[in-house]
Amino acid sequence: GRKDFDLFRVSEEHDMLRESVRALAEAKIAPFAAEVDEQSRFPQEALDALTANDLHAVHVPEEYGGAGADALATVIVIEEVARVCASSSLIPAVNKLGSMPVMLAGSEDLKRRYLGAVARGDGMFSYCLSEPEAGSDAAAMKTRAVRDGDSWVLDGVKRWITNAGVSEFYTVMAVTDPEKRSKGISAFVVEKSDEGVSFGAPEKKLGIKGSPTREVYLDNVRIPADRIIGEEGTGFATAMKTLDHTRVTIAAQALGIAQGALDYAKGYVRERKQFGKPIADFQGIQFMLADMAMKLEAARQLTYAAAAKSERGDADLTFHGAAAKCFASDAAMEITVDAVQLLGGYGYTRDYPLERMMRDAKITQIYEGTNQVQRIVMARNLPK
Ligand code: CAA
Repeated sequence: GRKDFDLFRVSEEHDMLRESVRALAEAKIAPFAAEVDEQSRFPQEALDALTANDLHAVHVPEEYGGAGADALATVIVIEEVARVCASSSLIPAVNKLGSMPVMLAGSEDLKRRYLGAVARGDGMFSYCLSEPEAGSDAAAMKTRAVRDGDSWVLDGVKRWITNAGVSEFYTVMAVTDPEKRSKGISAFVVEKSDEGVSFGAPEKKLGIKGSPTREVYLDNVRIPADRIIGEEGTGFATAMKTLDHTRVTIAAQALGIAQGALDYAKGYVRERKQFGKPIADFQGIQFMLADMAMKLEAARQLTYAAAAKSERGDADLTFHGAAAKCFASDAAMEITVDAVQLLGGYGYTRDYPLERMMRDAKITQIYEGTNQVQRIVMARNLPK
């Protein structure tokens, strides 16, 4: 992939990628978005279409059989899928989240096995950090991993796991030395088929209803010793480094949702007539659209700059990943609320996609660290 981006102009390749993903998303994913939300069912059509076009895990490097998309290209894919269906955008996003620890710290053997499997579409990857009593305070986790001969034995409960049950592979953070808090946490690859792995009932959520969120139960799960990701005790740092990169993908999701809402509302106000003319002719409406577009563009610039930092591995990614995620998700929430408002009563009904987009936007302020946690991260890593 390309290592450098012109901050103020996206390359022709990136623009072409956007056009092709937009066409695919509109043809193969958009038609099911309302139904997937209404029925709270997994968007299998989206997974099939994305996999057929090598877009389900675009971030996997070519040397492991992937498409080798750079961080900005990955952002663009997620953005364009989220523009029509936020639930479906979690397929490429969470595949990156779940497999990033392996990419950052895994042995060559783990990379070949698991990145290859994800790239081929043999299974998706989920990320298991949070627990019922350890959300924002991730290092307070209780899940244990104990070494026993040539195996590790894992025991505990992970909560809020995106795509749990449909994913084949799970990165699990667990305590290997309870005396050391964050320095006593290690990361492992667990497979759905490992004995002792099971799942809770799907959570009943406000939005992203097409993406199952379930607890993952680890009941004396015995895995080969070589499934540890990196050195013992480095799992928390790997988990945090992963989030530095993938918070950029949550920003991308927020951008996509907001773009979808703005595009729809813009079209609507040009058609809708009141007081004898399209409501788009009223300055009150024009000012709302201007503010929405301004916030979206600011969020996009911040996100693309963060993507460039993610691709280059810049030291200040921690601040910029958190800032992009925080800013873009807040912008998406404001923009989708305003988009509902522009449609008036229609915006409030399920006959139009705006209320779904508004509900879907809310999660981007919460997951991969609440926006309050993003501020903690930013404050600890202020730009020099
Ligand atoms: N890069 C590298 N290493 C890092 C790091 C980073 N960005 N951040 C922390 N570390 C390492 C360091 O080694 C650090 O030790 P030193 O201070 O000695 O360098 C060690 O981790 C401990 O870090 P902190 O002292 O900062 O840890 P903390 O307990 O104070 O927690 C926190 C910091 C930022 C609040 C962190 O707990 C956090 O990010 N919480 C939110 C968790 C989160 O985002 N959860 C989302 C789950 S995933 C999800 O939502 C997706 C889904 O599927 C639903």
